[in-house]
Amino acid sequence: QLLFLLTASLVIIESKIINEVRHEVRKFPDNFLFGTATASYQVEGAWDEDGKTESIWDHVTHENPCVTTDCLNGDIADNSYHLYKRDVEMMRELGLDHYRFSLSWPRILPTSFPDKINEAGVQYYNNLIDEMLKYNIKPMVTLYHWDLPQKLQEMGGWTNPNIIDWYSDYVRVAFELFGDRVKHWITINEAHAVCYAGYGDNALAPLLNIKGVADYMCTKNLLLAHAKAYHIYDEEFRPTQGGSIFMSIIAQYYDTEHEEFAQAAEEANDFSWGLYSHPIFSETGDFPKSLKERVAAKSAEQGFPRSRLPEFTQEEIDYIRGTSDYFGLNHYYTSFVYRNESTMNYYESPSFDDDLGVVMYTYDDWIIGESDFTKFVPWGYYKLLTKIREDYGNPPIIITENGFASHGGLNDDDRIKYYRHHLSAVLDAIEDGSDIQGYTAWSLMDNFEWLRGYTERFGLYEVDYESPARTRTPRKSAFVYKQILRTRELDM
Ligand code: NOJ
Repeated sequence: QLLFLLTASLVIIESKIINEVRHEVRKFPDNFLFGTATASYQVEGAWDEDGKTESIWDHVTHENPCVTTDCLNGDIADNSYHLYKRDVEMMRELGLDHYRFSLSWPRILPTSFPDKINEAGVQYYNNLIDEMLKYNIKPMVTLYHWDLPQKLQEMGGWTNPNIIDWYSDYVRVAFELFGDRVKHWITINEAHAVCYAGYGDNALAPLLNIKGVADYMCTKNLLLAHAKAYHIYDEEFRPTQGGSIFMSIIAQYYDTEHEEFAQAAEEANDFSWGLYSHPIFSETGDFPKSLKERVAAKSAEQGFPRSRLPEFTQEEIDYIRGTSDYFGLNHYYTSFVYRNESTMNYYESPSFDDDLGVVMYTYDDWIIGESDFTKFVPWGYYKLLTKIREDYGNPPIIITENGFASHGGLNDDDRIKYYRHHLSAVLDAIEDGSDIQGYTAWSLMDNFEWLRGYTERFGLYEVDYESPARTRTPRKSAFVYKQILRTRELDM
């Protein structure tokens, strides 16, 4: 018994030492990139200044002001259109390697098409990029972060296959204008949010809410538009500009507590992000098998003459496969799932959720954020990173978003805890061999959180929306992030 006790205490002491040592030496790789992100509609303001025309977000918030929780909109937002120098100053304060921001399509092309380039809008982005480059901060530019020109929406937006050409004409203009200085291009931010929340639901503009049909049409067009942008860059611009181009995929992670629902969890991952990652990163290309089979079966039961999920031709599959230099990964939370087809009402109306047939749930002690999707589940992040490595042959990853809506004002200890534990999961995955090359915190500062207005705050900097100056003040998390960036170390 004594021997047992002695061994047990030795094991405890040893593991303590290992943990302490492990924590002391938890270093990020030398060339690892650290950054923060924002998006045009969420921060720029100046919604109709200098020739900019209406986007779908201007449209839905002006049509019905209380479509947002606080009845506010992005007309002024953080006023970054005028305050970009302060934004760059904050980037310097944090010591960022890169800053991810997006271009507003209707600011650059006010007619939506490339017949007229808005010089003032272009000047704004040139100023921002040049100011960043002065201090060696790399621009990582998202070409589409949800502010579609309203005019294109009136012609069907992402459900109209012509958008593949409209989008490719727009991105070509962006490569021509900014590609001499921008070396990281992101084609589309969170396709799943665009299609599912915007077209299959009414959780994001354009609030179309045509479930289980419009979302799938959007998905197909969006993947083809992404692939076309990739090929244009790869063939026409990369040879002289030499940068990279990829998609930002939102991959929340679905797991289960019960072995019998392992398949359901796998399918939840397929339905929520596999439908974008599989066509691009898997060897076979195409939509995940579970998605094709389940939607086809449900559609047949409902009397549809064909699957509501559009098919890809072999030519399209080949065109999309391999079109991303990185797996751009956005992630916020993990959920558990169990299968339950009986609660679904798919006989009344087809929907994406009914096609999937699972119920998602979380534990209360996970939910510590102000937003219902900021939950504290770092082991889920680790499992997700592992899954991406294993399923897709270890693609290079740049984390393009991860963050937390805190309850905490300037003293945001909960956000600090979130970042530290999620960064620790990133290091765990790197130690296991994942090729993760960068991390981008969402967000540099508070901003317009879509239908939640300004009620959810994700910023490392707090923004004072009461003051016309939109004063930005660093939160405690900003100092912690700065320290991690300076030392390239995480001491837990
Ligand atoms: C996803 C989106 O890309 C971003 O626009 C949003 O503000 C954050 N996640 C937080 O919800």
